[in-house]
Amino acid sequence: MEGQSNEDRVGISDFILYDSLTNEDIVENLQERFAKNKIYTYIGEILVSVNPYRDLQLYTEKYIADYRNRERYERPPHIYWVADTAHKTLARFGQDTCILISGESGSGKTEASKVILQYLAHNAAFGAGAAPAGSRQSRSIDRQRVRAQVDRVAEILIQSTSLLEAYGNAQTTRNDNSSRFGKYMDIMFDFKGDPAGGSMRNYLLEKSRVVHQQSGERNFHIFYQMLAGLPETERKRLGLPQGSLRDFAYLVQGGCAALGKEDAANFRKVTQAMDSVQFSSDEKDSCLRVTAAVMLLGNMEYEADPEDRSNSSVRVKSSCRQAVAQLAGLLRVPPDGLVKALTSRRIVTASDSVDKAYDLPQATYARDALAKAIYDRLFNFVFEKVNSALAAAGHFGSDGDKRRAIGILDIYGFEIFEINSFEQFCINYCNERLQQLFIELILKQEQEEYEREGIHQSASSLTGPSGPVRPAGRDLPAPRPAHDREFLARCEREFQQRPSPHFDSRKLSPADKAMQHERDFRITHYAGAVVYSVENFLDKNKDTLYQDFKAAAVQQWPEGAEASNRVQKRPPSAGLLFKQSIQALVQRLAGMRPHYVRCLKPNGSKQPGSFDSRLVEHQARYLNLLESARVRRAGFALRLPYPYFLQRYKLCDSPAVWPHPPPGMPPRDAARSSILARLQLDSEDRVRYGVSKLFVRHARTVFALEQARVRALPAVVTVIQKHYRGRLGRIYFAKYRLAVWIQTRVRGLLARRRFARLRAACIIARRYRRYKIRAHVLRVCAAFDGVARRKDLGRGVEWPERPPAALAGLLAELRRVHNRWRAERMLASIPRHERPEFRLKLASCELLLGTDRLRAGLPRHWLGEYQLPRPRAAAKMPGQLLFSHPVVKAERGGAFKMTRRCLLISGLGVAKADQRGANLVGPVRPLAGLAWLSLTRSAGDPAVCLAFDGRGAGGDLLMILTTEAGAPLTGEERLTELVAVLRRACQLAGRDLPVRLADRLTFRCHGNSKPACQVEVKQAAEAGGGPRLVKSPAGGGVLQLLL
Ligand SMILES: Nc1ncnc2c1ncn2[C@@H]1O[C@H](COP(=O)(O)OP(=O)(O)O)[C@@H](O)[C@H]1O
Ligand SMILES: [Mg+2]
Repeated sequence: MEGQSNEDRVGISDFILYDSLTNEDIVENLQERFAKNKIYTYIGEILVSVNPYRDLQLYTEKYIADYRNRERYERPPHIYWVADTAHKTLARFGQDTCILISGESGSGKTEASKVILQYLAHNAAFGAGAAPAGSRQSRSIDRQRVRAQVDRVAEILIQSTSLLEAYGNAQTTRNDNSSRFGKYMDIMFDFKGDPAGGSMRNYLLEKSRVVHQQSGERNFHIFYQMLAGLPETERKRLGLPQGSLRDFAYLVQGGCAALGKEDAANFRKVTQAMDSVQFSSDEKDSCLRVTAAVMLLGNMEYEADPEDRSNSSVRVKSSCRQAVAQLAGLLRVPPDGLVKALTSRRIVTASDSVDKAYDLPQATYARDALAKAIYDRLFNFVFEKVNSALAAAGHFGSDGDKRRAIGILDIYGFEIFEINSFEQFCINYCNERLQQLFIELILKQEQEEYEREGIHQSASSLTGPSGPVRPAGRDLPAPRPAHDREFLARCEREFQQRPSPHFDSRKLSPADKAMQHERDFRITHYAGAVVYSVENFLDKNKDTLYQDFKAAAVQQWPEGAEASNRVQKRPPSAGLLFKQSIQALVQRLAGMRPHYVRCLKPNGSKQPGSFDSRLVEHQARYLNLLESARVRRAGFALRLPYPYFLQRYKLCDSPAVWPHPPPGMPPRDAARSSILARLQLDSEDRVRYGVSKLFVRHARTVFALEQARVRALPAVVTVIQKHYRGRLGRIYFAKYRLAVWIQTRVRGLLARRRFARLRAACIIARRYRRYKIRAHVLRVCAAFDGVARRKDLGRGVEWPERPPAALAGLLAELRRVHNRWRAERMLASIPRHERPEFRLKLASCELLLGTDRLRAGLPRHWLGEYQLPRPRAAAKMPGQLLFSHPVVKAERGGAFKMTRRCLLISGLGVAKADQRGANLVGPVRPLAGLAWLSLTRSAGDPAVCLAFDGRGAGGDLLMILTTEAGAPLTGEERLTELVAVLRRACQLAGRDLPVRLADRLTFRCHGNSKPACQVEVKQAAEAGGGPRLVKSPAGGGVLQLLL
């Protein structure tokens, strides 16, 4: 159902979900699923498997893990579910279980049993059980020991398959690796559920194959494997001819005269398996010897015995004598005895014993019988070895009585051929028995379950109209007569008197042309009617091995020793032996909880992907699938434990129980009132309420539930998605918040560290700066220490170099203060009334720094007024008179004429007055018109030019300072004072006065619109005559002022 609604939406995964089922439905559903590689389908707990003939990757570890401890509803059908359930039943409830695998040859039975084995071994490898008690150390040693044994058992179980397949399997037209025997295997588990050993039984080896094969088929694998894999020397030692397969009569009966590709490799596997099953080298050798002997026996030929007069008896061909010796050697018997046994037979009567020679058919029959018997023994021997290896590897200790078993039965399913003989009879009998067992067990189980669950229902009503089957073959009389026909006749006689619905023959129903007179009889099995032919029936049943062989090979047949001298008791027939073994098997299985695997093959040609509906239908009928489904379904289509039911269907429109039933509400009530009632499926004719399970009667109710579930799913998915996303979101958010929190802390931490470092750096830097400043200041202090006592007041003191930048302002201020202080100190030595003169001198200093004129001009006392008494014209001057001096002035016009005048300078203007200063000559020139002064550098040179610009300012004044007498003043430097007075006046008027110091004076004698001329000041060559202005003899516009 899980599969049905999810992964496995192909067809229907469980046949009991069909409301009414026919064989056609079965085939159709199987075909639909097969086409999608769904090879498994359930009929309730029965698994139907269709052989895919290709590897579908269904048996990987992933699948093993997927099916461990799963319920049937939880996963799509798979054989692992069967294996797991069998193991679970065993481990949980301590009940023996068995898995019965049946189906036609080639349908995948043996593969299925291997897959189950693989699952069980793998499960063991995961340790299903709990640790045994004891100290920790001894426990771990114990565990290791048990583990090693478990592995060993699993290995033997798996390894032995290749050995058993070599001896028991053959290539047939239906299956390249067809098991020619039935196999029942008990895998023993200890109380913890670990494999702890095992045992095997075989049923009905197809011995006839040793001497005869159908066309296209081979003898048992081992013969071919030996020929392909034996080294040359070994082959020689065993006396096997070197030639091809054709040299072995027994190997080419089916016309297959070529070795298979894998025979040699498989032979290696066989010898490996022999090692792991602990064959001694002697035993290994015996196996090879006996196998070789069987092959050689096939080559034994007879010829007419010339000594025999009746000409009917035979002897071993003379060309075979050598071979007989070889054969006797291989079988370890005396050659004489062997020859005798091959050609004659001892008849023992009460009083005597006579040897009677064989005719040719008898001899051939005897030879073949010997070959078959030897091979059968060999096969049993190998089986026994495997068994004892499994027993030896087991690890049952004191808990031996707690061992449990899983039985796996791999046996031919119901067989029906064109001509059916003794083998089919036995096999079908066996299947019939198993089917009967199945029905009985199912009924028992059902009844038990109903009782356990408190459901009032009788299981016997489930078996339907046909009633429990009764093995049809059981009614046949034991086949005693000597001839097949006699046997048939006897059967017919018996059933005429006591008619049975199961037996029929041509004699009993003459109109039935399907059977031949005196050859065929029909038995109606549970699965259908099968016509058997009695030909060779009795021979096959007697399975005679003449006593003489046993006597000849006393070693191999110990019972031959005494028997040869006594009247022979009839040995048990093959049929009887088989019947007994099946009865024993059935008895064993009856105590177990059975699981079934029904194998089908999809086509007769071993083709992957092809599905022959007719063939499958035929098999489905004989496997009784329909009946199985009917029996499983007759009671209830589905039974589910309440918790599982709730789990699965609580989402169907049931807010009362979704997502969780209210606490304390029993699951049964929840299922009934909240789910089924809402869906209106709760009536007694639809469902029954057991103690722990809900029983759903019809498949349609199951579908209604499923549909309700499918309808509800999208909403639930949304809810789940919502919650899931919400949860993801919350997880993300929590992570995010945590990340942010961590980030904050980390960043904070980093920042604090950086801050601390920074602060430290700042403190250091500050201290350092302070230190530098303090150091510099101290240096400054040191440099200027006692500066007040020094004569130069620290003028020559060097200020310390490279002061810190922070001190720049301060130092500048300091310098200023220091300079002011020094100036103050220096000024303090100057009397107050001398200060204006000092200020004037300062003004000249700036202009005439570095000139002789300054050095000469400064030391003297500056008077300002040198025209004494003060000229009257001064009163007419604007502003206070600052300077007056007698001068000669160069006049313009024609030749340069020098006139004596008095120069007057006030704070606002410059004027000329007459010689005595009584009156002004010309206008007062405003000081603002004074453009510049021009004078030479040399001290004592009294000539100066005052240049005036501007409208109404008048022309430039070229003058020479003179004494009162009018002679040029050369003894004393007074022009310095004149410059200082003019400059100071200009400064007070808010402007500076440019002074041109040069070797010559600049004088614009023709007004300021003409170019200026240069005036050279010179001493006149001859004294007297007063100063003159003449053109220079050198020309070039240069004038000479001669003093
Ligand atoms: N489940 C399976 N998956 C793949 N191939 C299979 C499967 N079952 C059977 N076969 C193939 O079919 C062949 C015959 O199977 P086998 O088990 O020997 O048949 P049976 O024992 O019924 O005669 C195998 O050799 C194998 O190639
Ligand atoms: Mg098989």
